[in-house]
Amino acid sequence: MALTLALLSISLAAIAAIYLKPQEAIDVLTVKGKLVLEGKEEVVGNLVSAKLTGNGVTSFSFGEYFEANPLISIEQPTVSAKQQIWADGASYRKIAAGGVDLEDKLVASGDTLVYVVTNPSESKIGLRLSGEIQVFSWFNPDLRTKITDLAGVRFEQSDGYLKGFYRGGYCVCLASNRGLMAEVKSGQAACEVELELDAGDTFVFAVAGAVSEQEAERMVRAALDNPLGVEESRKKEVESLLEGIPSLSGVKPEYEQLWKYMWYVMLSNRVSVEGHPVLSHPFNMPSKFVFRHQWLWDSAFHAIVLAEHDVNMAEGELLNLFASQKPDGRIPHEIFLSKEFCSLFWNVNDYSPWTTQPPVIAIAVKRVIEKGGSEKFLTKAFEALDQYDKWFRSYRDADGDQLMAYVDYLESGWDNAVRWDEAVARFQESPQKYTNLYKKIRMAPVEAVDLNCFIYIQRIVLSELAERLGLRSRAEEYRNLAEETTKATRRYMWDGERGFYCDVLEEDHRLLKVKSPAAFTTLYAGIASQKQAEELVKHLLSQEEFWTRFPLPTVSADNPDYDPKGYWRGCSWINQLWLTYKGLRRYGFEAESRLLAEKALKIMASGPTCNENYDSSSGEPLGAPDFGWSTLALDLLADLAT
Ligand code: GLC
Repeated sequence: MALTLALLSISLAAIAAIYLKPQEAIDVLTVKGKLVLEGKEEVVGNLVSAKLTGNGVTSFSFGEYFEANPLISIEQPTVSAKQQIWADGASYRKIAAGGVDLEDKLVASGDTLVYVVTNPSESKIGLRLSGEIQVFSWFNPDLRTKITDLAGVRFEQSDGYLKGFYRGGYCVCLASNRGLMAEVKSGQAACEVELELDAGDTFVFAVAGAVSEQEAERMVRAALDNPLGVEESRKKEVESLLEGIPSLSGVKPEYEQLWKYMWYVMLSNRVSVEGHPVLSHPFNMPSKFVFRHQWLWDSAFHAIVLAEHDVNMAEGELLNLFASQKPDGRIPHEIFLSKEFCSLFWNVNDYSPWTTQPPVIAIAVKRVIEKGGSEKFLTKAFEALDQYDKWFRSYRDADGDQLMAYVDYLESGWDNAVRWDEAVARFQESPQKYTNLYKKIRMAPVEAVDLNCFIYIQRIVLSELAERLGLRSRAEEYRNLAEETTKATRRYMWDGERGFYCDVLEEDHRLLKVKSPAAFTTLYAGIASQKQAEELVKHLLSQEEFWTRFPLPTVSADNPDYDPKGYWRGCSWINQLWLTYKGLRRYGFEAESRLLAEKALKIMASGPTCNENYDSSSGEPLGAPDFGWSTLALDLLADLAT
């Protein structure tokens, strides 16, 4: 259906062009595929990602090892894009350069990326292209120098190839079918190609990465010899990936393309890293364009979605997290590909920092088990979560009230949220007061409402797993612990005055009166009473608070610090939407849950987009494109269809 619509719109565009301006009839791209999207620039392979935009290839990255912006772009003559169509993983354009109509395309398959410019016109054209490649450092020159030293990064040029080496990691190799002039510096290299493109000629530029230099060079040679081979192989991959997705019937036709697109996002964000000591299973990067390693709560959300498709993929995603667990029981916040990058960012000599992230793994474990997860996985999950819960008790509950605390804003997953402003300021005023309680800490400890809902769920899941494993007394122990967390949440976090759940400071249990959608997690967890739920729903449906154009801003719109585009300070995020939607259903607010889902889905389907977050007042997609946990909207679509 989506394909038919896309093809129809392309042919309509062709007819319109001919009908309106017969004298200038430009031929339009007629690209076919199972998933065809107008204007999409992003292409991904395994570790490679890049965009076809402006005058060439930008935003290139090769995992956390190398990056470039631009990788290769046409500097002369000036280029303007006329049309761009993305089909099954490849992006195609018609461009005008120096009075000549050219076509360019970008595609990646596995760890190879190819950029092709063809000249279908009758005229010859001279082109000058240039680009660069650097060690991955988020384009921060200070970090670049340091990582270059730490990872022994070097670039070299020989026999028309430009190569980059990352010690203990990958080698990338760049080349073109028209040669390459390179200038090599420390941690970076620049390249240039000058050529004449005759009528019918093709320019091919390829990059490939592998753990061995010979393999990277072989892959580049293969891509230069047969660029169509790379394109065909990617198209086949995407086609077969789309053929395997769960089918959807019973939703409005306007959601069909979004459904397909979000599955593409979920399945093409998967990656395998060779030789990594922790990441032995393929996993999902949150977005290959911004977040190029594995995160804790992202992966739990990914596993929830993946379990609907392939329970083994979901297990693998979580098994990496279990493999990263520290001897004290902590499951770390993230697992970097590059130890060097982690050490510069977090000042630890490890692949993971000293923090954890919102403990939502248990939610994913429950879903995996419901979808037929293995007994082996179940046992492993019990052991890992049991140790993890103990860690929380020992290291995140200084007052022993069974309400856990976040001691770092990044640990909360809500990095710069308004919810933490007061706690961060308090810590900065008198750090000593808190470093006596917690060894490493960056904000006054906050017993956060969502954190404790997740802890409650984790304990319920642990009691269920223990029951299945025949561990009766452990099951009882976790039921009791869960009960203690619920009671304390109800006792301290309900703001009776305003009828809302809020975070509290651990030191005196004072309510931090910032209204955020974290409160609705009490519905998801089943902690709120029915009466409290009714009060919460009033706030949810209020246009002054959470019922914005894209609903559920991360702070209520009546807060003076609300910024509709602010990262965790007013943008809307799909994981919050998913938790709230499920919570509403749990309490019987069926109509409200549908309204909530449709309000967001309509905006997402209009792209379609699957971005990291959305401007809550305009609905504009923001942040990283093709973002993993935003595919939780698939779960909403599946629900709406039933
Ligand atoms: C940002 C978000 C965090 C998320 C990470 C990866 O840091 O604030 O919650 O886990 O990106 O997507």
